[in-house]
Amino acid sequence: DEMLPTAFHRATETVTHLRRKLPQHLATPRVAIVCGSGLGGLVDLVDAEGREEWKYEDVPGFPKSTVVGHAGKLVFGTMSETKIPVVLLVGRAHFYEGHSMDTVTFATRVCKVLGVETMLLTNAAGGLNSAYEVGDIVCLNDHLNLAGLVGFHPLRGQNEEDFGVRFPPLSDAYDLSLRQLAYTSWQQLRTQQPSNRKMHEGVYAFVAGPTYETRAECRMLSNLGADVVGMSTVPEIIVARHSGMRVLAFSLVTNKAVLDSVPKGDDPSLQGLSREQLAERLSRGVANHEEVLEAGKQAAIDMQGLVLRIVGQL
Ligand code: 6GU
Repeated sequence: DEMLPTAFHRATETVTHLRRKLPQHLATPRVAIVCGSGLGGLVDLVDAEGREEWKYEDVPGFPKSTVVGHAGKLVFGTMSETKIPVVLLVGRAHFYEGHSMDTVTFATRVCKVLGVETMLLTNAAGGLNSAYEVGDIVCLNDHLNLAGLVGFHPLRGQNEEDFGVRFPPLSDAYDLSLRQLAYTSWQQLRTQQPSNRKMHEGVYAFVAGPTYETRAECRMLSNLGADVVGMSTVPEIIVARHSGMRVLAFSLVTNKAVLDSVPKGDDPSLQGLSREQLAERLSRGVANHEEVLEAGKQAAIDMQGLVLRIVGQL
């Protein structure tokens, strides 16, 4: 058998390449920040001076992101005010693009080899919990790895001992002290930038996508205990935890997933409605990509304020 290079080997080669250009003080970032759809504004938290950037396509071993609104780049810099060295991953590779779980989690492994201690992940997600409004932020405290449970798992295959053990626990994946820090940071932000936006704590259901969920699927996920649903983050969290990095993750609720049943064709209340009126009844709450990006813009400012405060207190 021909020996394929391990993920550890490939990540190490990528890190060697990056460090050839990085100044000493940025070569070992303490925190990695993964920016989800529409959350690329998090880059503004990094001092412009001394910033080092690579487009993903120029980083050896990195996948190319293919989705509108997900321009991929890697940014090294110091956090404004606190000067903590960080790395930002602007855009991510998704499983629905056709990438393997190995490819989806490669950037996380690069973070580990760089010496990152804490991963702060953000994403855009659909709200299933009826208490959540569009624009709310959800601090994740658990997940349902639906794709993983049926075999699309990032740690499937020979275990790489360089990263971690064969059977890692995930019951403590969502670090309690980091979630406490998220709350105190949120309260600080609230007193300085008042708004109606809420922060919740909840469970993220990871689905493969790329379609948004049907109404029946939304009800199923809600009945399974999920509060939000999305197509990312969980593989990265698993790989991060496998290698001992601490994890804090936030979802931005960009739309409310539709829990209503589909109307029955013989429903008496639909009698006599025109074709247009029927179409209106059915299109209520249908998720679309533009809506997802728009909600991101409004709430991104708050997310930036939150992340700035959290990283400053790590
Ligand atoms: Cl409703 N579903 C999924 N799977 N991902 C999303 C979403 C919904 N809204 C934003 N991202």
